[in-house]
Amino acid sequence: MKQLLEEFETYLNTHLPQSKSFHPNFEKALQEMLRAGGKRFRPMLLLSVVQAKQSLLIKNAMSVALGLELLHTYSLIHDDLPAMDDASLRRGYPTLHTTYDEVTAILVGDALNTHAFNLLANAAFSNDVKIELIKILSSDGGIDGMIIGQAIDCYFENQKVELSQLEFLHIHKTAKLIAASLKMGAIIAGLSDEVQEKLYAFGIDIGLLFQIQDDIIDETQSEEEAGKTTNNDGAKNSFVNLLGLNGAIKSANELANKCKETLNQFDTELNTSLHQLLQKYLYRHQ
Ligand code: IPE
Ligand code: IPE
Ligand code: MG
Ligand code: MG
Ligand code: MG
Repeated sequence: MKQLLEEFETYLNTHLPQSKSFHPNFEKALQEMLRAGGKRFRPMLLLSVVQAKQSLLIKNAMSVALGLELLHTYSLIHDDLPAMDDASLRRGYPTLHTTYDEVTAILVGDALNTHAFNLLANAAFSNDVKIELIKILSSDGGIDGMIIGQAIDCYFENQKVELSQLEFLHIHKTAKLIAASLKMGAIIAGLSDEVQEKLYAFGIDIGLLFQIQDDIIDETQSEEEAGKTTNNDGAKNSFVNLLGLNGAIKSANELANKCKETLNQFDTELNTSLHQLLQKYLYRHQ
């Protein structure tokens, strides 16, 4: 797993998006948040499935994994903008709108979003596979996923929603892209529709857990520990704000236990590979 992550980091650092022009700093800004690091959770989910089932395809899957990381990084850059969460630190560095300006941050986000689909369209897979990948990423990373989640997240600031609505919000803003990452790995590896759907459903649970943990981190970690602005969810519908810190931890424990059980129901190859990746995530809130 460590080796796969290193391979991905090398791939990312040698395939950073480029923007050659006379603009004095756009290319630097474009690459800055990608170079800054991050857990690379979504690309690693995709690569773990491919590694488990069709390891010869790992090299060709790298550009698709990078596409996922580009789309995710764009979502963070926009999430931090003054009009959204107004955050000053991300991945241990000042946010782009702080270092440069809002125009740069908005346009870097736009560029990473569109370039993600360029990478998918140019990947070394059949057109049928690539169309499936583009459909999923555009929907789960778009209006049926991350975007509607973010819209609800921001619209309902200072206005409490029901717990079921909070789950809808977290599933859309975070879990669907995580579920899509697993399913995209399954599509690349040529797995059956049944396994694709099982991985997607598992990804929704893992993704909901991931966002509950993120809500807990906002409450419990300093910005140095988290590498990003924390104590920033005061006006938000977060698990901590709706259920209290202990209630959020309890929900996370229950969901982590459920995910652990589901993981054991996958075949040995998927179970082993995903377990290696997920073991450090399942109980990271504790
Ligand atoms: C943060 O995502 C935003 C959420 C969707 C919770 P990550 O926690 O994956 O951030 P990076 O990629 O490691 O910076
Ligand atoms: C962000 O959720 C989800 C995204 C789609 C980017 P948060 O706003 O809680 O993420 P952080 O805490 O800023 O990383
Ligand atoms: Mg947000
Ligand atoms: Mg935020
Ligand atoms: Mg958060």
